[in-house]
Amino acid sequence: STGAARFVPQRAGWAALRSAAADCRGCDLYRDATQTVFGEGPIRASRLMMVGEMPGDREDAEGRVFVGPAGRLLDKALSAAGISRDEVYLTNAVKHFRFSLRGKRRIHEQPRRSEVLACFPWLREEIRVVKPELVVVLGAVAAKALLGPSFKLTEHRGEVLEHDGLRVGVTVHPSAVVRAENFGEALDAFVADLKALKKSL
Ligand code: URA
Ligand code: SF4
Repeated sequence: STGAARFVPQRAGWAALRSAAADCRGCDLYRDATQTVFGEGPIRASRLMMVGEMPGDREDAEGRVFVGPAGRLLDKALSAAGISRDEVYLTNAVKHFRFSLRGKRRIHEQPRRSEVLACFPWLREEIRVVKPELVVVLGAVAAKALLGPSFKLTEHRGEVLEHDGLRVGVTVHPSAVVRAENFGEALDAFVADLKALKKSL
């Protein structure tokens, strides 16, 4: 496999992209995952796009982004920041779930850089059709997908950067908040980032 590019239809609209992505074999992750989880939300001149890492166990089963524990945390943080989930196009840097088996349990594994690069053509097309004013990267995997492998998330959270003609807002991944030792503080900091990013719209 040499990446998603050969599966991407030329100048397609969102629905055609989503259905082509369902048949993508641009890296090996399609083999063990249940299905491609494409992004969703308002298309064309939507103001805000948010990019996570990759679908988790629930998302893989349901075929929808952010419907598991990370999604519940994201919903809570968005509403605390005064952002409606309905106004956000939500997607991921990688469209298939990567996991290892522990007994019958499927344990999330961070996608490899090669998989992030293989999947990038889908994200690039989503940005082309959605045309967001601001793309918020949730966590280091999404940040590095858009801003390069040496990007240091912790040095830029809450900031908006210009990159390749795109405005990119930076914050942590909701799963990092779920797992944080000091949950209350981590949630407050995440909400503060989202509020700051919303102001820049
Ligand atoms: N984590 C992500 O990054 N994306 C999802 O859709 C779910 C969990
Ligand atoms: Fe294609 Fe991305 Fe799935 Fe790999 S993870 S098969 S590149 S959609």
